[in-house]
Amino acid sequence: MILPSHIAIIMDGNGRWGLKNYNDRNKGHYHGLQNINKVIGHCIKLKIKYLTLYTFSTENWNRPKKEVNYLFYLFKYFYKKNFNKLNKNNIRIKFIGDLINIPKDLKPIIKKIQEKTKKNIAITVVFAFNYGAKSELVNAFKNILKNKNKTINEELVSDNLYTKNIPDPDILIRTGGEKRLSNFLLWQLSYAELFFSDKNWPDFSFSDLKRIVRKFTSIKRKFGGLNE
Ligand code: IPE
Ligand code: IPE
Ligand code: MG
Repeated sequence: MILPSHIAIIMDGNGRWGLKNYNDRNKGHYHGLQNINKVIGHCIKLKIKYLTLYTFSTENWNRPKKEVNYLFYLFKYFYKKNFNKLNKNNIRIKFIGDLINIPKDLKPIIKKIQEKTKKNIAITVVFAFNYGAKSELVNAFKNILKNKNKTINEELVSDNLYTKNIPDPDILIRTGGEKRLSNFLLWQLSYAELFFSDKNWPDFSFSDLKRIVRKFTSIKRKFGGLNE
């Protein structure tokens, strides 16, 4: 039985959850954040080595300023409230995305989190923050041009992505009922097994995760070959 080593999640449906339960989209974001903490714990229990979470896309700037500002506020709140515990639990935290064009006050926080947790080994949690796959690829091609590489191959492209040194996800989960990638990890998800849950992210539970992992273990991954 082959267990997944990397799970990527598009945590969708926070806004709808908040509207339904509190008539307030931001309440959904708050509860979604609580679920991030729980799911990290579940993944450690399942011995998952990498968990990548889509937290803010390059397209999410199109939302009302009030919501965008609240998401950034939550980021700082999450850090303040949970950082010590995450670090104590041996969790390594990384960020991928355009970390240049984010609010100035978040930059030193991100730097500190990555630096302080870099030797932790229980799990690597990757936060995709101001992330867009198309801009990641453009950025990679720009780097390749700048370095005047003579040839271009898959390894070189991979090495110039934000996800350098992180294995590709085995599983992609999208909650919230939609079936699209929304500009998430277009290159890295080439061979991922895709799972969609109708539950909104704050309701996504340990049993939902276990069901997906169990299903994954029963899939014969062929990578273009034949099933012997
Ligand atoms: C995902 O939930 C979280 C972020 C994009 C930050 P949404 O906010 O997209 O929730 P819905 O899809 O509107 O319900
Ligand atoms: C994707 O969800 C982004 C995150 C979960 C951070 P969206 O809700 O922004 O995606 P669309 O707009 O439905 O495609
Ligand atoms: Mg959404």
